[in-house]
Order: sequence, then C-alpha cells, then structure tokens
Amino acid sequence: MTILDIIEKKKNKQELLPEEIRFFVNGYTDGTIPDYQMSALLMAILLNGMTDRETFEMTDAMLHSGDVVDMSALGGTVVDKHSTGGIGDSTTLALAPILACCGVFVAKMSGRGLGFTGGTIDKLESIPGFDTALGEGEFFDVVKRVGCAVIGQTGNLAPADKKIYALRDVTGTVNSIPLICASIMSKKLASGSDTILLDVKYGSGAFMPDPQSALELATKMVAIGTLAGKRIGALITDMQQPLSDHVGNALEIVGIVDVLKGKKNRLYYEIREVALRLLALTGKYTLETAEKAFQNAIDSGNALNKFAEMVEAQHGDPSYILHPEKFEIGTRDVVTASSDGYVTKMAAADIGRAVTHLGGGRMTKSDAIDFSVGVIMHVAIGSKVSKGDVLCEVFHRNGKGLDEAKNLIANAVTIGNSKPDEHKIAYAYVSKDGVEMY
Ligand code: URA
Repeated sequence: MTILDIIEKKKNKQELLPEEIRFFVNGYTDGTIPDYQMSALLMAILLNGMTDRETFEMTDAMLHSGDVVDMSALGGTVVDKHSTGGIGDSTTLALAPILACCGVFVAKMSGRGLGFTGGTIDKLESIPGFDTALGEGEFFDVVKRVGCAVIGQTGNLAPADKKIYALRDVTGTVNSIPLICASIMSKKLASGSDTILLDVKYGSGAFMPDPQSALELATKMVAIGTLAGKRIGALITDMQQPLSDHVGNALEIVGIVDVLKGKKNRLYYEIREVALRLLALTGKYTLETAEKAFQNAIDSGNALNKFAEMVEAQHGDPSYILHPEKFEIGTRDVVTASSDGYVTKMAAADIGRAVTHLGGGRMTKSDAIDFSVGVIMHVAIGSKVSKGDVLCEVFHRNGKGLDEAKNLIANAVTIGNSKPDEHKIAYAYVSKDGVEMY
C-alpha cells in the first residue's frame, strides 16, 4: 500500500478500506507521510467526500492515535461542549465557569483559530500569564479544586487531529463534513467526558453554509458519540453574523466579562441555550431547573468570580477579568455606513478574515497572534442605520492590515431598504431520540 495509491483512489471517488485509512492517519502522525501528500489527500476528501463507514474509521484511527483520558477519578459528572467554530464565538469562556457553578466538572481541551474562525486557546492566551499547557496532573487538580479548567489539546490527545487540523487550516480543507466530524469526535471521545454538547453552526461565518448541512454533520456526530456510549446532543445554531459584537482575542474576553456581569445580548442567549441543554443531558437537571441554576450563577456574581478563580489557578492574572479595561487594545478606527437603511446581511467570515488581516489570526502555521487587535460591531442584522453611522470600530497595530480589514468589513455588511426577519439563535436540537425543531 502506498500513499500515492490512496490519493489516486480518493481522487477517483472510490471508498477507502479501513486499513488504508489507518495507514494515512498513522503515517501522517508519525511523519512518514509529508505535508504535501497529506494536503493532496485532504483536498481529494474535501472534493469527493467520505462514506459513513470511512468517516467512522477515520474518527476511530484518529481517536486511537494517542491516549484516551480517564476522568473517573474526578468522581463527578464531567461535561464537555464543542463548537464547530465561528466568528466571535467565545461561549466556552463563559460556559466553563457557569457550569462549574452548577455543580458539574468542566475539563475542557480547546483549539486554536482555524481558517477564518477564532480559537478559545488563542483568546485565553491574551490574559497575561495564562497557561494553556498545564500538565495532566495539574489540569486534573485545577478541575477538582475549581470545577473547571481549559487547556489546549495535549500532545497525547488525538495527536493525529492536532497535525491534520493545523494542515487543514492552511490548505483550504476545513469545510468538509467527514473531516470536521472525524476531527471533533476523535477529540471528544479521547478526552474522557461523559456528557457532550456539540454546537454545530451554520451561516456565513461557519463552515456549514446552511441548516441542512449542519443537521447532516450533527446527526453523524451524535450517532458516533451515542455508539461510543456517551450522553450526547447537538444544537444547530445561527452564525450568519458574529456571535459576539467583540471579535478578536483580548476583545472577546472583554465581551465575555460583560455577559458574566449580566449583559443580555445574542452571545448570552446562545450561552444559555447551550448550558441548559448540557445540564439537562447530564440527567441532574430538567430544562426548567437548569435555567434557574444558570441565572443564579450569573446574578450572584459567582460565575464571574469562578472565571477569575480559573484564570488564577492557570497562572493568569485574574485582575484582567475583574478589570477588563486593563487589556491593551490597538489603535481605534471606524467603518461607517455608506447609505441609509437596514442591515440585511453580513458576510461574517469576512469579518473573521478582517481580524486575521489585522494580525488577530494566522495566515501560516507559524504566525504569532496579536491579541490587541480586533473589531467591535455596532450593528447586527436588522439594525436601522443612517449614512455615516459607525458600523464597526476597528482596533489595529500601526496600521497593519487596516485597509484590507476596513474594505472587507465595509463589503461584509449589506444595507437594504426593508427590515429583515429576526434570526433565531437555534434552529434544531439533535439527540439519540431524534430532531427537535425550534
Ligand atoms: N472544530 C474542530 O475541532 N475541528 C474541525 O474540523 C472544525 C471545527
């Protein structure tokens, strides 16, 4: 068997055998298959797809490429949540402390930015001192003591995904249902949580363009998780505009602190929906009791204090959570409306790309992130604007990428004459019992 034969086979739309899938997953992980051949194969998979059997085999090969974590020593319910990625999607940062306040453990391994989307780990690293690479012992200790911890994917957890993910990020091979499914489920099954909520996003700022493809991805992932014995559900949520009005690394921490202080925006309602579903999945709560516990965690200030406690336990400076004005933010510029009307559409991915141009995301695997740059949106779909109104503030460093970013944002926001329909946060919920529409 050679990698060239496997690339040819997938190029010719043939189904790969389990041993061929293991061969390329293991070969790329141990370095015997080079980036250029893996890139060609990933592109053939993106263009020609994979059957359910191939997707399951790829997930299984990636899951067993490293350790499978055992969380039973924590002695409680361990929950996990995973988003397929979006713009301004900082939900994990609020969910971890809120859920910990509701009495479940959150031992979360998160990713870095992928394509035009931001990554939780990059955002957390904007907090001075924050360590996203705790060793396993310390990670468990923080979870046990604080109730939550968020680290990057450890070297030993699905290392195949770690390498393939970084390659997909820079080879235009992100938005493939089988590749996303194998990537997410290999990590979720290896990371040892017993209850998993997947947040599958669709729209102009997501990898899935429409609710139907998001539903297809969600159904596949829930089926694989259920087969593996997990309590698992998937919410299909809207990403036709940035989820948070703050987009960028440090800026998204600022936006999350607002939510933990009780600000009720789109981000808040999405976080609430994910939290309620996740708590209900554990079997310890109904949706009604979960809602009370969620609101109490915020109203009491406990969730904000828990976030600061987690930051301190992970060697970060908690004063940045309690006083977010301490973050260094870039120089301010603005994008204004070119006409009167209503915001009818947003090309959310282009807002993500704008932040990458400013230095807030990566163009190549080795790029360093500038935490201080980003945007604050002043409008959402449905907002009424007059010519000259500020659509968005842009924060840059020494003008880097500013012209490209402003152009991208100006073209990303469509202004029309009539008020568009309201965008619901969630479209459907998928569980082993079927699909519930919102
Ligand atoms: N998130 C992941 O972890 N993997 C993907 O492929 C896409 C989003």
